[in-house]
Amino acid sequence: YSSSSSSSSSTYNATQQRLPGVIIIGVRKGGTRALLEMLNLHPNVEVAKAEVHYFNVEEHYRRGLAWYRAQMPFTLPGQLTVEKTPGYFAAPQVPLRVWDMNPAVRLLLIVRDPAERLVSDYTQVLHNRLTRHKPYQPLDELLIHKGHIDPGYKALQRSLYHQHLARWLEVFPREQFHVVDGDALIRDPFPELRKAERFLDLPPRISPSNFYYNTTKGFYCLLSAGHDKCLDESKGRPHAPLSTQAFKKLCRYLRKPNKLFFEMVGRSFSWC
Ligand code: A3P
Repeated sequence: YSSSSSSSSSTYNATQQRLPGVIIIGVRKGGTRALLEMLNLHPNVEVAKAEVHYFNVEEHYRRGLAWYRAQMPFTLPGQLTVEKTPGYFAAPQVPLRVWDMNPAVRLLLIVRDPAERLVSDYTQVLHNRLTRHKPYQPLDELLIHKGHIDPGYKALQRSLYHQHLARWLEVFPREQFHVVDGDALIRDPFPELRKAERFLDLPPRISPSNFYYNTTKGFYCLLSAGHDKCLDESKGRPHAPLSTQAFKKLCRYLRKPNKLFFEMVGRSFSWC
């Protein structure tokens, strides 16, 4: 026996839990789970499987960085730790807190047509209410008040990307953000992942052979080490109905916020 073997098996393997070097900050319903799972295909990446909600939930934040680190996967030196919590993007207290943890952290923001995102957001809330046997209102009623878009509707506010990003840009320089096109990730994941690898200074390891289009699901699923994995049924579910008239109003309402967002990120998207 060696009397000095106080080290645990984890330090023997040199694996350790480390704070994230990369955070997927949002947007909610933008494809954050797909992006996380797809990045996890990379051998140099390990991800926190569950959403951590450290910076946005007071009860968690009070537990401090040791608690946050304990939520992270074990990694080898040189591996990148990634966590995703879509609630970070729209929570005002989060950017400074993230900066306090690590001012050099890299931030991934996956966006999607904000009108589609709103409908997806509503659909998720509706689903939760139905499973808990709670009452619900149709989307048209929540979105339109006396013939006009209701600016107080929370899911609408979460689609005003420029407002939230402006707060993040008060804290972090633009170079620390990479914007992923969530609509493009749905259509064809590989090109978006190649761009993300480049941003993260990772050697290109994710390949088109890691994805196959699942005709039953109507989405791409993942292939790695012989395993076949689709995201669960809560990802890519049919959207709740919204009248054409209300959808048009929504698109018109979003035109200006979208333009402001495009200016902020120096790139445009073909949104409604
Ligand atoms: P919908 O359910 O509205 O289609 P998040 O993980 O941030 O909640 O995002 C959920 C969205 O991810 C889904 O929204 C879906 O469109 C999108 N998504 C992107 N790639 C996907 C994939 N390969 N499989 C399933 N959903 C995917």
